[in-house]
Parts: sequence; structure tokens; C-alpha cells
Amino acid sequence: MTDADTTVDDIDIEALRERALTTLTTARDRTTLLTSCVDEPELTAQVSPLMSPLVWDLAHIGNQEELWLLRAVGGRDAMRPEIDGLYDAFEHPRSERPSLPLLPPAEARQYAAEVRGRVTDVLADSAFRGSRLTEAGFAFGMVAQHEQQHDETMLITHQLRTGPQALTAPDPEPVPLFTGPSEVLVPGGPFTMGTSTEPWALDNEKPAHRREVAPFYIDTTPVTNGAYLAFIEDGGYDDPRWWTKEGWAHVRRNSLVAPLFWRREAGQWLRRRFGVTEAVPLDEPVVHVCWYEADAYARWAGRRLPTEAEWEKAARHDPTSDRSMRYPWGDADPAPEHANLGQRHLRPAPAGSYPAGESPLGVRQLIGDVWEWTSSDFLPYPGFRAFPYKEYSEVFFGPEYKVLRGGSFAVDEVACRGTFRNWDYPIRRQIFSGFRTARSGAV
Ligand SMILES: [Fe+2]
Repeated sequence: MTDADTTVDDIDIEALRERALTTLTTARDRTTLLTSCVDEPELTAQVSPLMSPLVWDLAHIGNQEELWLLRAVGGRDAMRPEIDGLYDAFEHPRSERPSLPLLPPAEARQYAAEVRGRVTDVLADSAFRGSRLTEAGFAFGMVAQHEQQHDETMLITHQLRTGPQALTAPDPEPVPLFTGPSEVLVPGGPFTMGTSTEPWALDNEKPAHRREVAPFYIDTTPVTNGAYLAFIEDGGYDDPRWWTKEGWAHVRRNSLVAPLFWRREAGQWLRRRFGVTEAVPLDEPVVHVCWYEADAYARWAGRRLPTEAEWEKAARHDPTSDRSMRYPWGDADPAPEHANLGQRHLRPAPAGSYPAGESPLGVRQLIGDVWEWTSSDFLPYPGFRAFPYKEYSEVFFGPEYKVLRGGSFAVDEVACRGTFRNWDYPIRRQIFSGFRTARSGAV
């Protein structure tokens, strides 16, 4: 084919192929970094019953990639059918994984690399059409997101380990203390929630639908360590008034007094972050709090957590055009000036950072920094259809899980959209979770 014969469609397909390859490569580079900075005994050890040994994540990433991209898309035979069960997350809970006959580190690396090599061939031949799985490169996007989600999980494992520092990254740019308005009024009315057009969106983000939201105020920035400290020092953890019944029982049973990784020493609050102990930075969004803590703080502050719909309206709705955008700043893919994403920094940026990433109404840091707890249970949108399998989202729908939105510093942009939904148990706080608060406005 000569240049003159190249159609727009061909260019789109080449761009798609390039994007799929780039996102898969970015994910693998991150995986390699996270699994090469500790020694072999650490890779096979379990630092917490909540986490898998890192070597399990590594081979599981390869195995999922093989299942979806080599077998489902490429029509290839299984490379090692005998290991499928070991790396099936539903067959073995995390607590069981260290006792499984897992591939040793060198073999796990080799397996993941071989899968990737063959995926590159499948990708080179793909026309990105013919089935829902291949349309617009969805399966490649899904697998890249899956690997990045495990990269975030592996970063949590790194945060939980107690050995010396293994990972480093530059700190975010310092910013002047944020002195803008503490909250923003989001006018009432309907907006479009979810998406039907984002090609790599996952089933639970679909379909786009109109949602009525009453007027509300939302914090301009996530709640900071300094603000959270005021709750602690006001006796927040000792006062049942602020807690739900379940939250209070949980706090008492587990003797919680502060966010995970915090401790008080000689009158000062310190925290452990990736193997280093440091003073708690007061201007940084609070992280490693569970839903119960976020909910109690909000009640103490005379406020509440935003609902998931409120969060998304604040993040995506442009009141001028009445359109929901892909991100708070518009439709452009995230750039470093918009948000703290992709493990570029190993901490949230100070409250008020990233003015270029603010929403049309001026709400900041909705994307990146810390996952934000919402008051909402994880439920399907009207018209939800499970795809490509029920275990992706559908089996998790219900009141057991609370929704978190917006991504954290540990999430790559491929797995962080304005519509992206995360969910977890309300007791979880090893995740990079923070929150902002809201209050109802005058109708
Ligand atoms: Fe997984």
C-alpha cells in the first residue's frame, strides 16, 4: 500500500495499535520496577494476609494476559494450563496464596515475558474489530488496566512491608498554602453519569444515563492531614456520636486512634511511608483512612461524604455546556500538570496543587492523589450488562462495598477516568484512600 492509499481508518487502527502497545509497555515497566527492587525471599513472602506475595501478582498478571489476549483474542492454545488454577483470584483468597506451589520468581518473570512476546504478535495482526472484545482494542486496554491495578496493589504491599526503603521517587512540587474557598456550590439539576462512548471503560462505568442531583457544596480539596488531626485531637476516636454503629464497633474492637501507619512519639505525629518514618505533613491530603473514619470525620465536621453521583457531577459536569467531560479539566488525556497519577510521586501532593486540573467550578485534585470514599454502595447503573464476565463487577454489587472515586497517586491514567469506579469494604485502609466532604445546598 502506498501513502496515497492510506485511509483514515488505517491511521486510526495504527494509532490504536500504538496506544495498546504503549500502555502495555508502561504497565510492564512499572511491574518490573516493583518486582525487581526487593530480593527473592521478599518476593515470595507475604507481608500481610490482605496481600498476595509479589510473585503471585507477577505470574497472575501474565496468566490473565494469556487468558484474554492469547487465548480469547488470539485463539491460541494454553501455554501452561496446569497453572491456571493457581492464579485464579476467585479460586484462592489472598491468605491462601503463599502456601500454593507458585512459580518461583525467575520462572514467573520468564512466563510473563513469554506471554508478552506472543501478545505483541497478536497485536500486530489485530484489526480491532469483529467482536466486542476486540472492538477499539478493548481487550488490550482491559489487560493493561488489569496490570496497572495490580501495580497499585503491589505498591500497597510495598507500603505494608517493614524492611528498609526499596522504592524512591521525587516529591511533588511544593505549592503555597491553598487559600481559595474551602467549598464550592454545585447547582442542582440533572447531569450525565457514566459513559457509553469511552472505548476502554469497564462494564460498571456503563451506560451513560441522566441522574438528578440536588444542589450541594463540596470541599474544594481533599481533607488534609492537618484537618484530620483536629478531629483526632478533639477526641474524635473516643466519641460514639460521630460514628455509625458498625464503625464504632470496628474502631473499639481494633483500638483505632489515627490513620494506618501513623504513630505518636514525643508529642509529634509521625507516619511510615515506603520504609521511611517522617513527620505527618499537615497540608497533604489524608491517606490510609477507612470508610468509617471518613464518615465519622465528616459528621464531626457537621458535614457528610458526597454520594457517588455528587462526586461525579462535581468532577465531570460543565455547567456552561451541560455536558459531562472525560475529566474535570476537559476531554484531554491526563498530563503531569493536571493530576498526581502513575506512581510518579509516592505520596499525595499538597492540597490545592494542580490548578490546571481543576473542574469548571474550581474543585481541585478530584483525579489522582488519593482515592475518595463516597457514601454510596457499589451498585449497577440502570441498563448495566456484565462484560466480559460476571466476576469483573457484577458479583461485587451490593451494600457490602463502598465506592471510591478519582484514583490515587498510585494509579496509572489508563485505569483512571472521570467515570472510573473503585470499590472496597468500609474497613479497608491499607489502600491509598482519603476523602472530601459535602453538605446539601439550599433547594
Ligand atoms: Fe487480577
